[in-house]
Amino acid sequence: HKLQGHVSIILLGATGDLAKKYLWQGLFQLYLDEAGKGHSFSFHGAALTAPKQGQELMAKAQESLSCPKDMAAGDCAELKNQFLQLSQYHQLKTPEDYQALSRDIEAQVQHEGLWEAGRIFYFSVPPFAYTDIARNINSSCRPGPGAWLRVVLEKPFGHDYLSAQQLATELGNFFQEEEMYRIDHYLGKQAVAQILSFRDQNRQALEGVWNRHHVERVEIIMKETVDAAGRTGFYEEYGVIRDILQNHLTEILTLVAMELPRNISDSTAVLQQKLQAFQALRVLQRGSAVVGQYQAYSEQVRTEQQKPDGFRSLTPTFAGILVHVDSLRWEGVPFILMSGKAMDERVGYVRILFKNRAYCAQNEKHWDPVQSQCLPRQIIFYIGHGELGGPAMLVSRSLFKPSVSPQSWKEMEARPGLRLFGRPLSDYYAYSPVQEQDAYSVLLSHIFHCQKGSFITTENLLASWVFWTPLLDSLAHEVPRLYPGGAENGHLLDFEFSGSQLSFSQPQPEQLVPGPGI
Ligand code: BG6
Repeated sequence: HKLQGHVSIILLGATGDLAKKYLWQGLFQLYLDEAGKGHSFSFHGAALTAPKQGQELMAKAQESLSCPKDMAAGDCAELKNQFLQLSQYHQLKTPEDYQALSRDIEAQVQHEGLWEAGRIFYFSVPPFAYTDIARNINSSCRPGPGAWLRVVLEKPFGHDYLSAQQLATELGNFFQEEEMYRIDHYLGKQAVAQILSFRDQNRQALEGVWNRHHVERVEIIMKETVDAAGRTGFYEEYGVIRDILQNHLTEILTLVAMELPRNISDSTAVLQQKLQAFQALRVLQRGSAVVGQYQAYSEQVRTEQQKPDGFRSLTPTFAGILVHVDSLRWEGVPFILMSGKAMDERVGYVRILFKNRAYCAQNEKHWDPVQSQCLPRQIIFYIGHGELGGPAMLVSRSLFKPSVSPQSWKEMEARPGLRLFGRPLSDYYAYSPVQEQDAYSVLLSHIFHCQKGSFITTENLLASWVFWTPLLDSLAHEVPRLYPGGAENGHLLDFEFSGSQLSFSQPQPEQLVPGPGI
């Protein structure tokens, strides 16, 4: 009903790392996509820093904005300039600062002679600051009647079930559930977003095999080569399970395990089904986990956090977890979650490995004459990095030929010599996105269009913590296995499982056994 309207986007933490790396670029992309479609925009960077210095730092954070590859340099420069003209810095410290911000926005809307459509507040700040900011926004920065308010929250959303619940209750005092967008940037990654679309587009081929009768196991892997140096303060408090598994990897798991709603564009239905998948996760036992720590970690903590000489950290920087989903569809199928810092490679993927069925032996097409066995049949959502570089989706040719949305994914170029999971690329139907998009740009666009399906509701967040908290409690005093870190000795972290027990395949080498300090 409002053809024209003004949208203000307020970036709290406008001078920080995330803003610099992703958020300003995401906002610029939003501007490129949406300007000229009926809304006018203003961008308000905010931080605690005093105006002059804040303005300078913000300008620095906005320095590396980039345009799509096919845009002419002149057009790009002009659009960047327009965007920077529309952005201004505000020091936000006191309640009066928030009131002043709100007055500025109102004045701007009036000056343009438009309606106010809405305001988006992006919290790119540490969670201890959330409650104060939320209180100030609620009391001073709500737009007038008819206009919407959206707040975007970055993890960590708590530390365990109780702290997550407390934070959720505090935020619930100031915001309605529909106003909150909790970000998990993995849900904006193209390969992750493709899981549901792929299942939806291939319902007929998949419905009969996406279950315990046909799936051998599911692997959800995210390995990083970087370590925690420079952020050991944060890392000591969280560790790999809270940093990666509780959120990114569990979100992905639910996308694989959930029942498909009839219409995947129906966000409410998607979130409901996800919630049911969370609730079907079987309680983890201590034996369902293996944890490790790269060798240099404790030393980094000692230096960065001024700890005494004998200090040894118990924080895991590596974890492998065996998860079972207690639903009719997935009974007995192992879901392996694994992530670590300082590992031998940087790669992320979801791999659904199908069972080899006996009929394959009679069908030449499915038979590997070299190894005298059925060809492996798998679907891989390749999140990025590793050998393939960018995101991709691969389906074994011996499985079925997928139908892929022609607009957003295309067949990948042949890459001779490249092998993935032991098979040449020619063994797969392989696709990559027509245009690569950054996760934050994707999610900012969803927020602008009020599409809530790829954000974390309070219910889903708490369900995830219900699942993880008992294991985290039982690991609190465990000594993680040490690993050298880096490219060598990756095999020290290999693990195997039987039933619901997971264990390292190799004994810990003597030189890596934790010393007496522990
Ligand atoms: C963040 C974690 O959520 O994800 C980091 O806090 C991690 O520790 C990062 O490095 C990885 O994200 P990406 O997009 O670089 O794979």
